[in-house]
Amino acid sequence: MPYASTKQLIQRAAHAGTVIPAFNIPYLPMVEPVARALKDCNSVGLIVVARLEWEKFESKSLEAVRDEYEKFKSPAHTRLHLDHVPVIDEDDRRVDYPAIITRAIAAGYESVMVDGSRLPFDENVACTRAIAQLAHASNIPVEAELGAVMGHESGPLPPYEELFASGKGFTDPDEAARFVQATGVDWLSVAIGNIHGAISAATKGQQKVAARLDIQHLDRIHQKTGIPLVLHGGTGIRKKFILDSIRHGIAKINVATAIRQPYERHLAKGVIAAQDAVYAAMLTVIRDELEVQNSNIRLNQEDKPYLHYELNSL
Ligand code: 13P
Repeated sequence: MPYASTKQLIQRAAHAGTVIPAFNIPYLPMVEPVARALKDCNSVGLIVVARLEWEKFESKSLEAVRDEYEKFKSPAHTRLHLDHVPVIDEDDRRVDYPAIITRAIAAGYESVMVDGSRLPFDENVACTRAIAQLAHASNIPVEAELGAVMGHESGPLPPYEELFASGKGFTDPDEAARFVQATGVDWLSVAIGNIHGAISAATKGQQKVAARLDIQHLDRIHQKTGIPLVLHGGTGIRKKFILDSIRHGIAKINVATAIRQPYERHLAKGVIAAQDAVYAAMLTVIRDELEVQNSNIRLNQEDKPYLHYELNSL
């Protein structure tokens, strides 16, 4: 029986009220423990790299991550996804995003993200639509972002509670509906109180704030768009909000800091120790935080919807 495509997997997760986690690879040796944990938990997850992880960390290039992925992939448990390729990056520089995305598709990435969220609405629409056309021609689904999921920028963030209370940068539900309609994008990354883990040298080791999510706001976006939604900044969000968000349209959740920091903290003891720390962190995320152990049983093998709680009683 052929395995499900990434598009089918996310669609099934959305219908079933469960989530597919996406794990970032800032260091190449992280691929092995991430894939191993997904297999050992019989879960489905995406292994992903963002442009800033080969520019500012040590994953070298999208092709290097693909090569590492090829050694450890499992058709029942893993898929390869290209995370944030910004149109304007976190340092305010323009990026040749069509060239990077074209390279990723040629290299075998099974889904891609274009991030035009730092652009005005109409320009974000135009860039995203062009990438959706390009990727769909190769049957590759596309994720885009609308609203501001902050945290990657080098400057200091406003205090979190201030940010949350003001709703500054939150995805507007009406704009989201127009965006989805105009671009043909497959999945939409939304801003509802989530923030990315910091990445500057001075801050990347710090603990993230325990972010909250505005679930009512998410629900409005979900009702208006009708496509699977994506939650970036998955580390450190209080569990109650995560589980609630999955019930209200989040079908993919990105996790980076929760597995990167253990790797960095243990590296002085050697790569094996650092990989073991990533593996242990993966088990915590899969089993305790997202509760997606055994998701392969239904997501990959049958077209039958199931509920999150059924999965976890297996
Ligand atoms: P965290 O670092 O908060 O887990 O965010 C990951 C992310 O959204 C990568 O795109």
